[in-house]
Amino acid sequence: MNITVKKGNLADTKTQAVILALCEGEKTFSELVSKIDQKTGGLLNDLLKSGDFEARPSQISVIYTRSLPAKRIALVGLGKKSELNLEKIRNAFAKVMQHLRGLNIKDAATTIDWNLLPDQKEKIIAAVAEGAGLGLYQYTPYKTVGRDELKEMRQLEIVVEPKDYSVILDEIKKTNIITDAVYFARNLISAPANEMTPTIMAAHAGKIAKRKNVSCRVLDRGKLKILGMNALLGVAAGSHQPPKLIILEYAGGKKGDAPIALVGKGLTFDSGGISIKPAEKMDEMKTDMSGGAAVMAIVMAAADLKLPVNIVGLIPATENMPGGSALKPGDILKSYSGKTIEVLNTDAEGRLILADALSYASKYKPAAIIDIATLTGACIVALGDDVIGMLGTDEQLKKEINQAAQTTGELVWELPLWESYSELIKSDIADYKNSSGRTAGTITAAAFLGKFVGDYPWVHLDIAGPAWTIKDKAYIPKGASGVTVRLLVEYLQNRLNK
Ligand code: BES
Ligand code: MN
Ligand code: ZN
Repeated sequence: MNITVKKGNLADTKTQAVILALCEGEKTFSELVSKIDQKTGGLLNDLLKSGDFEARPSQISVIYTRSLPAKRIALVGLGKKSELNLEKIRNAFAKVMQHLRGLNIKDAATTIDWNLLPDQKEKIIAAVAEGAGLGLYQYTPYKTVGRDELKEMRQLEIVVEPKDYSVILDEIKKTNIITDAVYFARNLISAPANEMTPTIMAAHAGKIAKRKNVSCRVLDRGKLKILGMNALLGVAAGSHQPPKLIILEYAGGKKGDAPIALVGKGLTFDSGGISIKPAEKMDEMKTDMSGGAAVMAIVMAAADLKLPVNIVGLIPATENMPGGSALKPGDILKSYSGKTIEVLNTDAEGRLILADALSYASKYKPAAIIDIATLTGACIVALGDDVIGMLGTDEQLKKEINQAAQTTGELVWELPLWESYSELIKSDIADYKNSSGRTAGTITAAAFLGKFVGDYPWVHLDIAGPAWTIKDKAYIPKGASGVTVRLLVEYLQNRLNK
């Protein structure tokens, strides 16, 4: 769907549906809504008076009119103005667009009401566009039966006063770039593992590198052997799919400026390996490359936004499969860093491949390292399905990520990473073990990663919960969420504005 901006007045706009977002319990209409109400002979007033529509959060009512160029007026509630926030705006626009799509409507028009959140003007624009855009996501490439019945919105036109045009256009362009990046991540994650192998992921990364200032290198098995990336190679040993270390570099900043290193877990399928997972829900482990997909999407968005920053994206990509040559419980691997790892559970594979990629990040002397991974089921046990677990060594970096989360609505919660947890990952015969039983599973995983991060500010984001949603949420239809893409693009933008 396209979101476009046009100078004009919504009351005079020809469209399938004019969308008006209203707050609950307001005594008077805004100037624009009054104008539309008058043109319809007071239909809106009647509707509100009847009590059929109270403007509760995401409540929807569609009315039909012959006195406007528009065929319909779609009202959507935002709830009480005193309780309004960006998330409610996103939710409302996601819901109303989904509703209109359900009516098989192809185009709609709306405007931006500055008065909703007067101190967050630009952010309202982004919230409207994100809600509408992200809420309409659907993954349909494998539907062949009844394909012509698939419903799709084509356009949302934002009709604005001439004086607001350039600010709004600018913000919409930026938001469209970010929404496209989230779609890109969702598409990669949703793809089945037989069609999203490490090789195919690498090919997608190659396409991102068609952009200005972006380059892509892919280290294959031969190169990984020469480098001694035995932790990554160990996880790949049971699979027929060759592993890849995908390296995306974006040079938007000054030459020589330390880059931000983003490291994403790219497990294209996690069966657990010899420590095999139960059959139930094993299919969801096609999403174990969500961190890697997010890193690719963030680099893509940063390049399209032309952010003046250097970024290196590192994505270790492999399957984790059982097989005659697979890693076995008890095996010891010498990692790229030289440190040895006793593999007690082959299902704790994410930390193995990340260990090598995190150590490799030191080559870039980065300003910060952020890794993103569907790392532990324990994170879901601790924080639930919707929350990103955050752990790391740098207070400033954690603070900045928390701040970005306030804007994007992604839920981030910090867990401690005290030195004492390191005791739990000591191995009897190697340097570390990759699994240490049930206690503090998310923290011990992060403590393990920490052993492979050089002396750089570092934060780890465990997205095991929110990467994949099993229930529809307004602007995250069930399935792949693309979580952390908006979060880290916001973080990068804020960092540049300092
Ligand atoms: N990819 C999984 C974690 C996961 C679980 C993500 C559920 C999303 C939903 C990871 O590789 C894993 O299997 N972790 C193990 C670690 C354990 C063996 C120490 C886990 O969480 O059970
Ligand atoms: Mn696993
Ligand atoms: Zn995994």
